[in-house]
Amino acid sequence: MKTVITFGTFDLFHVGHLNILTRARQLGDRLVVGVSSDALNIHKKGRAPVYDQQDRMHILEELKCVNEVFLEESLEFKSDYIRTFNADLLVMGDDWAGRFDSLSCLCEVMYLPRTPSISTTSVLEIVKRQK
Ligand code: CTP
Repeated sequence: MKTVITFGTFDLFHVGHLNILTRARQLGDRLVVGVSSDALNIHKKGRAPVYDQQDRMHILEELKCVNEVFLEESLEFKSDYIRTFNADLLVMGDDWAGRFDSLSCLCEVMYLPRTPSISTTSVLEIVKRQK
């Protein structure tokens, strides 16, 4: 059984998120998703996500392509999460290209092309402009 792991905020869940998750799942038998905590996002991006961590996790848990969801508490713990979930493959969008190559001693690392023209940030901008 091949386990694939991926990480992200997945705020304002959109089709770019769905595409990377379905493609990641197709690369193995089981997909585990680490959802970055609200605290981690405040630290990383200087603002809290629109949807809180419970809701972001709940949306992912109900997707057909996702088998398991956990809370990512720190960017520094990726190697621990890979070991804990026995992941064979780490998948990230290519906005992260090269950033996780050091983990290739633990599992295979693959960067998939992002879906063009959509991001949480761009959705937020569109909604703000329409106010
Ligand atoms: N992703 C993707 N295609 C997009 C947007 C995101 O493949 N158009 C992928 C990212 O590469 C990442 C995962 O989805 O592997 C989660 O990304 P996340 O940062 O939560 O979403 P973004 O829309 O990129 O959020 P933001 O605008 O806040 O950076």
